Amino acid sequence: MLDELRIQRAAASRLAEVDPSRLGFGDHFSDHMFSLRFRDGAWGQPEIVPLAPVPVHPGCLALHYGQSVFEGLKAFRGTDGRVRIFRPDRNAARLHDSCRRLCIPPLPDGVFEAAVEEIVRVEHEWIPRGRGEALYVRPLIFAEDAHLQVRPSTKFRLLVFTSPVTNYYDREAGAVSLKAQNRYTRAAPGGVGFAKTGGNYAAALFPATESIAEGFDQALWLDGTEHRYVEEVGQMNIFFDFGGRVATPELRGTILPGITRESVITLLRDRGIEVEERRIGIDEVVRRSRDGTLREAFGAGTAAVITPIGRIGFEGAMHEINAGASGPLGAELYDALIGIQLGEREDRHGWNRIVDLESAPAQAAD
Ligand code: COI
Repeated sequence: MLDELRIQRAAASRLAEVDPSRLGFGDHFSDHMFSLRFRDGAWGQPEIVPLAPVPVHPGCLALHYGQSVFEGLKAFRGTDGRVRIFRPDRNAARLHDSCRRLCIPPLPDGVFEAAVEEIVRVEHEWIPRGRGEALYVRPLIFAEDAHLQVRPSTKFRLLVFTSPVTNYYDREAGAVSLKAQNRYTRAAPGGVGFAKTGGNYAAALFPATESIAEGFDQALWLDGTEHRYVEEVGQMNIFFDFGGRVATPELRGTILPGITRESVITLLRDRGIEVEERRIGIDEVVRRSRDGTLREAFGAGTAAVITPIGRIGFEGAMHEINAGASGPLGAELYDALIGIQLGEREDRHGWNRIVDLESAPAQAAD
């Protein structure tokens, strides 16, 4: 399908307008976007066009009823100058699962990875070179039918665009603090918690805003049934170092199956560290933070990479972890992950997809 990719180049690049010392997360968008439409029961002809607003009908089903899914992955400029995309096959698999749950026709095999590779190839000059920086790739599929009935759309659009970013949470600011939410719920069994769909993030805005107003950096979600078991943070999965063994909430359909989560579990097991994927009660976290058997905690996500967690507030009490500071295990995992992504460390699990820049189309082909 991507043999027929049409590329229309932007008249001028906006790259020079970006201050590389102030990237932030999601502040800048590169010059182009990949676009593919679903019509009459099939995905059509792909194109890469200059990034621009997309016209949507006011009755667009995605706007009203939230039929949309997205992904997030990163491309890196390695220390050796080569361009690497981290584990796009895992994002493709997760997007497939999200599509299925949201009644969105899945992409044909290979299209997701090819689309990501093509947009990264076209935008490779936008890949930032600082440590901890990357070109974040955001694929999005949304329902395009203009209709007011609550039913699956018949028309969809895939867009893939990119943004040069630094880590989601500022590492200079130190460990983050989380408020364990026992009032609001992110996801319930049988719901869409495992899917990467906008509604999960929209539902989190009010509780997160409330947590931030109380002085926390983010909300920590507990399970939706009993408000007793730790789930995830919203922008990242969570890990606890209980001294010699690490625990992370198991995948029960209510949390996002993070690709960084999966990578961290592998990196820990590579080091001979036992990893438990299980239910973790907030009472256990509180008890272990008090008796010192909770050594450190960190979040893991594509945008957040590895983010140390220094404090968890629960029922009006604040619980410090590792004296509120970042810990050595999280720091080691951060270095290991970044080292693999930049091609400095052995990629023993074959996670990186190297992008061949030689085959980059030099000119507009429209
Ligand atoms: C990611 O880590 O890729 C995410 O999608 C999290 C967030 C920026 C929504």
